[in-house]
Amino acid sequence: RQTPVIAPSILSADFARLGEDTRAVLEAGGDWVHFDVMDNHYVPNLTMGPMVLKALRTYGITAPIDVHLMVKPVDRIVPDFAEAGATLISFHPEAVEHVDRTLGLIRECGCQAGLVFNPATPLSYLDYVMDKVDLVLIMSVNPGFGGQKFIPAALDKLRQARERIDASGRAIRLEIDGGVKADNIGDIAAAGADTFVAGSAIFGATDYKAEIDAMRRAIG
Ligand code: DX5
Ligand code: ZN
Repeated sequence: RQTPVIAPSILSADFARLGEDTRAVLEAGGDWVHFDVMDNHYVPNLTMGPMVLKALRTYGITAPIDVHLMVKPVDRIVPDFAEAGATLISFHPEAVEHVDRTLGLIRECGCQAGLVFNPATPLSYLDYVMDKVDLVLIMSVNPGFGGQKFIPAALDKLRQARERIDASGRAIRLEIDGGVKADNIGDIAAAGADTFVAGSAIFGATDYKAEIDAMRRAIG
């Protein structure tokens, strides 16, 4: 099993002080920056694009940036995020015409590639592409907003995804996104996740470090 990664979602950061707040959450122990990209088309909300990611790099953020694309179309924005300094780029298979091609494109651009599964999206999208995937992201809320409640069916889906990853023998990360808090992260880890996105739980806390420490203790 890979070392646990906590990826604070800066969707819940203070956008007026995004650089400072991102730095603060990393200094508090966050491992990656989870960067939610919403386009008011694939999902009903609008957030940030490659220019904002680039600004974070220019500001001095060197941690891995985990880009979660909730956009349609996907392909034409991938090179822009790669050039801006993305580390990983994940997308929803329903948002593209050719899943295999888009995974290949992300790697050709020098990034790691992830596939994201909405609560009702079957894991069968993984069937023929395990060799092209670096990360599997299970959504435990419907994408579009922070601060939603964890959908319990995601735990069983995590177990199934864990089985697939283990059977592949590949170093693929298994990430969970949505409603993750210190009081459910233990069960989520037990179900097989090794990479944990948390937005409102961390940024809503008065002490980021205390919250991240509590999460790490609960992961075990
Ligand atoms: C939702 C986003 C999440 C969001 C999670 O569409 O993909 O990354 O920031 O927020 P919380 O942790 O508050 O559920
Ligand atoms: Zn996300």
